[in-house]
Amino acid sequence: MTSAEPTAGAAGPATPVRRARWRTALAVLATLAVLVPVGWLWWDSRMPAGYSAMDMGTVDLGGGPGTEDAHGGHAGHPAVGVPELRDATTGPAAVTVTLTARREVFRLPSGRTVDGYTLNGTSPGPEIRTRQGELVEIRLRNESVPDGVTLHWHGVDVPNGDDGVAGITQDAVRPGGEFVYRFRAPDSGTYWYHSHQVSHVQVRQGLFGALVVEPPAGAPEGDVTAVSHTFAGARTVNGQEDGVIVPAAAGERVRVRVINSDEGAVPAWVTGAGFRLRAVDGAEVRGPAPVAGLAVSVPAGGRADLEVEVPAGGARIEVGGGAALVLAPPGSAGPPPSPRPRDDLDLLTYGAPAPIGFDPDAAQRRFDYVIGRRPGFVDGVPGVWWTVNGRMWPDVPMYVVDEGDVVRMRVRNDSSEVHPMHLHGHHVVVLARDGAPATGSPWWTDSLDVAPGVEFDVAFVADNPGLWADHCHNLEHAKNGLIAHLMYRGVDTPFRIGTGNHPD
Ligand code: C2O
Ligand code: CU
Repeated sequence: MTSAEPTAGAAGPATPVRRARWRTALAVLATLAVLVPVGWLWWDSRMPAGYSAMDMGTVDLGGGPGTEDAHGGHAGHPAVGVPELRDATTGPAAVTVTLTARREVFRLPSGRTVDGYTLNGTSPGPEIRTRQGELVEIRLRNESVPDGVTLHWHGVDVPNGDDGVAGITQDAVRPGGEFVYRFRAPDSGTYWYHSHQVSHVQVRQGLFGALVVEPPAGAPEGDVTAVSHTFAGARTVNGQEDGVIVPAAAGERVRVRVINSDEGAVPAWVTGAGFRLRAVDGAEVRGPAPVAGLAVSVPAGGRADLEVEVPAGGARIEVGGGAALVLAPPGSAGPPPSPRPRDDLDLLTYGAPAPIGFDPDAAQRRFDYVIGRRPGFVDGVPGVWWTVNGRMWPDVPMYVVDEGDVVRMRVRNDSSEVHPMHLHGHHVVVLARDGAPATGSPWWTDSLDVAPGVEFDVAFVADNPGLWADHCHNLEHAKNGLIAHLMYRGVDTPFRIGTGNHPD
């Protein structure tokens, strides 16, 4: 030891040791100053094991009547329970289907194996067909899906009690159990169904299928569905990696119902012929002009009906590129694939304008749905989470309406990813995009892609009482908090999220 070295514990001001102690104390304090609030945020973000969707959120009355308490009745009316909001008719249904859900490894026609889920042994599950207004009865049986299952009728504005959302409109069907859905599809069009229990896993891995609602009467049109889905990284149409060949006569008009069951948008275009876009999300387009050299971007969860007049050499409906549906007259194999057109058809201006049936300027409620992202805790888990109106799940808005209200919503995407927004139980009509008014056929949608930086003004009539999810259909995003709810005053749910029910 040399005399130059300081002695531990030596007295006197500003020795290196004393400075070190201060530094340590300051560092501890600084750490606590960060940790205590962060710890509180963590603690505060934790959710109880089971909770009502109605306890979620920040009540948003949109300028209409109501109170901060989302629960219960109002104006002396007792609350109506979600299970009461169902079709009351008894007696036999026009269409009855039994769907049995299984957890299993299955094989695509290409030979590729998928570790996932099936309905009646296949994925996509069986295509269900009904007519507008007819009673459909679907018996869902869970044979072996350990997490439980439900079925949601995406785009069909069914009564709330049949909406099939675990923890909101029903309990997930456990293995060995069943649930019977009975509803009348109010509108014809192209729809689909999928599980709404652990949906970010179950939909991707197979629990979905097409649902076509035919017009109530009239000569049947030639039509075919093209369900786009990516199984284990492979793009398919109707489960086929190599595509589907559909025999068709030259000159025949065929409505190809493109359904996107994936997490991201899929472009659809036609090689060998032009097309008309006949319907979007089940709603008919008025005055659909012929389209050539453009693609239709179908958002996640969305549908697009492309009508093609089959040429002698056939037509190829490309869905995403790679997989395709070929309309092939006898002796033709259809044209070779073509690259994706550079531009997409713009639905803001496509088709002929028509009255929308209500006055959006007389709206009783006006809401914002502003999507963002920031770091924080959700249920005790740190991450960079989605926000709605600046708040993270579960403090997202609870949009409150009364039956009969005209509702306007401004949906803005302040994040850097696209969000296909899906409101259950209603179709919204697009009024404007980035302030530019819609000038084409009324653009009714239930799955609307909102690109980064884009703002949509949409409107709808609150005509379907219940408690409805309004979420991103990139289901991974929904699972990570991009979900809010629309509730009608006076509706309450007995179901709980958390205890076995995980809707997203
Ligand atoms: Cu297609 Cu809430 O889902
Ligand atoms: Cu999203």
